Amino acid sequence: MEGTLDKTIRPGAVRGTVRMPGDKSISHRALMFGALAEGMSHARNVADSADCRATRRIVQMLGARVRDIAPGELEIEGPGLANLTEPADVLDAANSGTTTRLMTGILASRPFYSVISGDASLRARPMARVVEPLTRMGAAITGREGGRLLPLTIMGGSLRAIDYQLPVASAQVKSAVLLAGLGATGTTRVREPAPSRDHTERMLRYLGAPVRDVEGAVEVDGGATLRPFSLDVPGDISSAAFFLAAGLLAPESAVTIPGVGANTTRTGVLDALRAMDGDVAVTEKETSGPEPVATLTARSSRLRGTEIGGALIPRLLDELPLLALVATQARGQTVVHDAAELRVKESDRIATTAGELRRLGADITETPDGFIVQGPTPLRGARCQSHGDHRIAMMLAVAGLIAEGETVIEGAECVEVSFPGFFDVLQSVDSR
Ligand code: S3P
Repeated sequence: MEGTLDKTIRPGAVRGTVRMPGDKSISHRALMFGALAEGMSHARNVADSADCRATRRIVQMLGARVRDIAPGELEIEGPGLANLTEPADVLDAANSGTTTRLMTGILASRPFYSVISGDASLRARPMARVVEPLTRMGAAITGREGGRLLPLTIMGGSLRAIDYQLPVASAQVKSAVLLAGLGATGTTRVREPAPSRDHTERMLRYLGAPVRDVEGAVEVDGGATLRPFSLDVPGDISSAAFFLAAGLLAPESAVTIPGVGANTTRTGVLDALRAMDGDVAVTEKETSGPEPVATLTARSSRLRGTEIGGALIPRLLDELPLLALVATQARGQTVVHDAAELRVKESDRIATTAGELRRLGADITETPDGFIVQGPTPLRGARCQSHGDHRIAMMLAVAGLIAEGETVIEGAECVEVSFPGFFDVLQSVDSR
């Protein structure tokens, strides 16, 4: 998404209760699985973000009917995996890696021709990670640079199950292989170096698919059919994280966020904030369909630096730019390592995080697989850039609340990718 909108943020404090839009990862899956299940599914609190709208358009082009009942509430009439139809045009995934990689997994077993592409950022992101296992299963996939880059053309067909070891933890790749496995003959098995988010596995089980955890791997039997479902999408913890960080960093702040997804494969950010001495409370834990939810509260805290690496990384990957900002206000050093995956997200998030935070006066150094932050450093407002990356834009907005003077975020409209209305929600808790 290319930048046009400048957004100005001034120092503030946050107080009150806010609700988050539906989780982006789970909203994508609700739309896709609604298409794969034959019959009428019902989903509430589905994110109406640009990424999820791309998934919605694509499942419609493959034969699903999606109807708005109320804001965020959808009826999805799925043709079922076996009855998806050849799309008449190129499938446009816009900025969304999740749409592209999961859909490629679904399309790999369909006996028709499809082409998937996206915006300039997405067209620069690595696709060999899905093309390689799906090709091994028997799909014919081609793309730019030998299948490494979009657009991809997919001629699906009869797939064979595989036993696949992911080189890096990735929920998108794991999901692509499992979804291809649903349409393959035999039992597909996937192993990861560390657990990534497990929304696909939970949702598949919820819909009656034979998915099992066996000796550190997850496996699915081919040929299973999925039941239509009713689902409440939990609030997005990755969106909530910006408000939690604002609550911790801004003086005299306290913010409460009910109904947030609290799946432990996603709650690494809470663990990291607590390791930094952040006052973060998790209450009202309950289960909603396939996913746990909870109320999260954060209050102004005196923070200290920490180390973030290893198996914690996939549990907080999308929150690392924000944690870098938090670290600028913590006493001592924060080291993030094992996070080279950040370089292939919506932007090179190691470079964009370090570069933008330095403009505001932070002491942050890039490393090949993370960054090192020395704190605390006072931040000064400046003109900064989103780099078309929604999470960088929202991180800079939180930075603006604690920086002296004005912070101007260029290209702020990209927050639409995961959180339309983000700036209004931020304003609604600004208690200055
Ligand atoms: C996602 C998985 C993550 C994450 C992305 C959403 C998903 O990517 O960064 O925002 O919904 O499966 P990887 O696990 O592939 O790195």
